[in-house]
Amino acid sequence: MISPSVMCISEWQGAKEILCELEKNHTDLLHTDVMDGAFVPNLMLGTESIKHLRKITSIPLDIHMMVEHPEDKLSWFDIQPGEYVSVHVESTRHLQKALAGIREYGAHPMAALNPATPLCSLEDVLEDVDGVVVMTVNPGFAGQKLVPQTLDKISRLRKMLADAGMKDKLIEVDGNVSFVNAPKMRRAGADIFVCGTSSVFGREGTIQENIAHFREALQNFEAYC
Ligand code: DX5
Ligand code: ZN
Repeated sequence: MISPSVMCISEWQGAKEILCELEKNHTDLLHTDVMDGAFVPNLMLGTESIKHLRKITSIPLDIHMMVEHPEDKLSWFDIQPGEYVSVHVESTRHLQKALAGIREYGAHPMAALNPATPLCSLEDVLEDVDGVVVMTVNPGFAGQKLVPQTLDKISRLRKMLADAGMKDKLIEVDGNVSFVNAPKMRRAGADIFVCGTSSVFGREGTIQENIAHFREALQNFEAYC
């Protein structure tokens, strides 16, 4: 599944056209970054933007909550059944409560890990998630470069899930998911690819061309690796 990052849509007035283009190209999810300026040094997509997004597109949201104490803020976003909602392991003392809260909305709970956060921090919440978001950059900004050791982290996570008898849990990768990095991430075991400035919203190519190129790179990941 691919999940273009709304944050990278530079001109909001053109958002409706861009979202129509994404719908026409069968985008699976719409990665929607929420930032509070405390958990990350940036502000992005508040509650009203999220509610407005649902009015102008039918693509299910993949809400990435880069906020402190997300368990206290879930009710702000009118979370819908079937949406994906990721909260950061590092952002709360009450991770299991946050994940259970997402589940109560009928949404898919996802735990997100910054590059430096070890996989062992997930050990006691694997039952509570439908997947894990491996941040392949330090969160807060688009256009950053992959943190190299995160590729191996994806493979180790895929093995950790298999060893726990949870091979169906999803792995989402977020940050510099480029035409070059995506096949490597796919080979390492990723399922959901957040497409931002280094792919779908890249400088060259139309959205349609870039999505086709991205899907082709994912299909033939052996050839690209
Ligand atoms: C960064 C966000 C990402 C970002 C991806 O904190 O979580 O979703 O928008 O942008 P690129 O693909 O340019 O790294
Ligand atoms: Zn994100």
